Amino acid sequence: MKFFLDTANVNEIKRINKLGLVDGVTTNPTIIAREGRDFEEVIKEICATVDGPVSAEVISLDSEGMIEEAKNIAQWAENIVVKIPMTEAGLEAVNKLTKLGIKTNVTLIFTAAQGLIAAKAGATYISPFLGRLDDTGTDSLTLIKKLRTILDTYGLKAEIISASVRGLEHVEKVAVAGSDIATIPGSLFPKLWSHPLTDAGIVAFMKDWEAFKNQ
Ligand code: E4P
Repeated sequence: MKFFLDTANVNEIKRINKLGLVDGVTTNPTIIAREGRDFEEVIKEICATVDGPVSAEVISLDSEGMIEEAKNIAQWAENIVVKIPMTEAGLEAVNKLTKLGIKTNVTLIFTAAQGLIAAKAGATYISPFLGRLDDTGTDSLTLIKKLRTILDTYGLKAEIISASVRGLEHVEKVAVAGSDIATIPGSLFPKLWSHPLTDAGIVAFMKDWEAFKNQ
């Protein structure tokens, strides 16, 4: 499974990129607003920092506006993916943008039906939101399993980006369920490599080594 970073913080991206773990980056208007920087400037900087796909979201709600924005954003870098909301206008935009060779990531997916039609419209990526779905009392893992089955059964090319990831459990479960990608906030990354028993083990090994050396 690939890891995308769900952030627009360039320092955070650079730090985790050093581990060779960043296969791409996703942003949304909330994430961009959090940085307080110019949208185009920050996206171009991220695109220059990572080799993989970088999602930048349109803010238009009508298909013509989305297409115009997407055509502009797509020129910012080779590795741009234009993020489009899961609406009727969004599907029309995805269909047209796919024909123009512009990669898309359909966001705010909460049902298998939404994922299926986004993939059929030509989306490069589909982004089901785990945390926000769990908040409504609906099991998000079932959605990932259904999407995996649907894409495989019908040979649809879209890749699943498990988004709105809130914890280690989400990451592990979507990996088992066959999600192509998990996009996770920078704050969650350390939980992927740390465990109290690992820390305790290192302390014990060091203590035993010191005792042996001082014999
Ligand atoms: C990524 O593509 C999504 O925009 C992001 O994961 C949403 O996460 P949130 O539900 O924590 O805001």
